[in-house]
Amino acid sequence: MALTEERPGKTGSIPFAMRDGIHVPRERYYDRGFFELEKERLWPRVWQMACRLEEIPQPADFVEYEICDQSILVVRQRDMSVKAFYNACRHRATELCKGSGRVPGGQIACPFHGWRWNLDGSNSFVYGEWDFDPELLKPEDLRLVECKVETWGACAWINMDPQARPLQEALSPGAALLEGYGVEDLRVYWWKEAIVHCNWKLAQEAFQEAWHVMATHPQLTMGAGEQYPSDSAEVTAFANGHSRFQARLDESGGGVMTGEGFLDSMRLLWEGQDAMILERDLRIFEGVRARVGPGEDYASAAIAALIDYDSGAGIPLRTTPEAMRLWGGEVYLFPNFFFLPMYSNSLSYRARPYNDDPEMCRFEVWSLTMPAMGEEPGRAKLKGRFALNDVENWGRIPRQDFSNMERQQRGLHSRSFRENRLASQSECAISNMHAEVDRYLAG
Ligand code: FES
Ligand SMILES: [Fe+2]
Repeated sequence: MALTEERPGKTGSIPFAMRDGIHVPRERYYDRGFFELEKERLWPRVWQMACRLEEIPQPADFVEYEICDQSILVVRQRDMSVKAFYNACRHRATELCKGSGRVPGGQIACPFHGWRWNLDGSNSFVYGEWDFDPELLKPEDLRLVECKVETWGACAWINMDPQARPLQEALSPGAALLEGYGVEDLRVYWWKEAIVHCNWKLAQEAFQEAWHVMATHPQLTMGAGEQYPSDSAEVTAFANGHSRFQARLDESGGGVMTGEGFLDSMRLLWEGQDAMILERDLRIFEGVRARVGPGEDYASAAIAALIDYDSGAGIPLRTTPEAMRLWGGEVYLFPNFFFLPMYSNSLSYRARPYNDDPEMCRFEVWSLTMPAMGEEPGRAKLKGRFALNDVENWGRIPRQDFSNMERQQRGLHSRSFRENRLASQSECAISNMHAEVDRYLAG
C-alpha cells in the first residue's frame, strides 16, 4: 500500500487533521493544500503580533506587517493611539508603504499617482479628480480599509476578521500568566531575523519544550550529560492554543549551587544568547563572590544582589513568587509569539511563513530588557537578517536550535517517515498548538 493512502484525516473535512495528541501528520509542514487552508482560515482570523510599539514611537510612524500575501500598515495616530489599514491603494491597489518609517507631513501617499490619506485613513487628495466618475470617489469608499488592531504587552496586534473576539479574550489565559512579570515594561535591546528553510510551526516547536537541551545544548547541562533530567521542566497546555514551560519545583527544596557552577551557567547563557542574561547581570552575580562562604547558596545571594541593584537603578523587576517562577521558562502565545523571561530581561520570538512557501519561515528574535522607570530608549529597529551559521550575529544557543530545524524539515520528506510521535507530557504544547490550528481550519 502506498504510504499516502492511509493518511490520518484524509477523510475528514480538514486534510491531515490531528487525530489525537500524539501523532502529527508530516504533510502539515509542507503540503500546499494545507498551507493554503492556513492562509484562508487561520491567518485572516487570528490575532497576530504586528509590531512592538517602540517601532512607532511618534505620530505618523508606521510599520508594514506582512503575513503570507497580505500586507497591513500599523500607523501611530496624532493622539498616540494606533490604527491599522490594509496596505493597498484605493485607486489601483499599489502598496502604499513598505518596511517602516514616518510618513512625511502626516500623509500616507501612493507612489504611483500620488493619491493621499490622512493618518486616520480618510482620503485627502485624488489626482485628476475631474476625470473620475463621482461614483468612484465616495469619501467612505475612498477611505483606507481598516484592520482590527489592539495593544497588549508593549505590542500592536492585528486581526483581519472584523468579527474577531477581543484580543484579551484570544490571548487568555496565556497573557495573564505574564501579567505579574511586567512584559509591558520590556524594551528592545536587540532584534534580528533569519530566514529558515522550514515550516513556521516546525520552527516554533523547537522552543515549545525544554528537553532537547540534553542533546542540542549539552553545554547548558553543566556536565550532567545524560543525567540531565529530561523532565526538569513542566509543560502546561492551555486553552486557545497557548502553553508554558517552567522549571519543575524540586520537592527536596533544590540543592546548593556553588559559586562557580552558578556563574558558569550564567556566563554560558550570556555568551550563548545575550538575551535572558545580559552582561550587566553577570557582573552583578560575579560581584557577590567575596560575600558567599563555601557551602552557602550562591544563587540566592546573587539574586538578592540583582534585586538590590535593580531597585537602586529604578528597574521595575517583579519578585513575586509567580513572577520569579517564570524566570528561565517560556510562554507561547498562539499562533506565533513567545516570551522567555528571566530576571528583568526576556528573549522573544515570532515565526511566520515566508515567500508563500510552506517550507520557509521568517524567524525573528528579540532580546528585551526593562529600562529604568521613565527611561524610553529610542525607536526599535531590526538589526538585520543573518545567515543561520553567522557566528558574529547569532550566539551558540540559537545556532544550535537553528541547526535542527532544516534537518528536521528535510527528514519529514523521507520515504520512511509518516508522522511525528510526541511525548505525552513534555511535548504536549506542540499537539496543543496543532489542535488549535485545526479548530481554525475547521471554521
Ligand atoms: S495606484 Fe495609487 S494613486 Fe494610482
Ligand atoms: Fe533550544
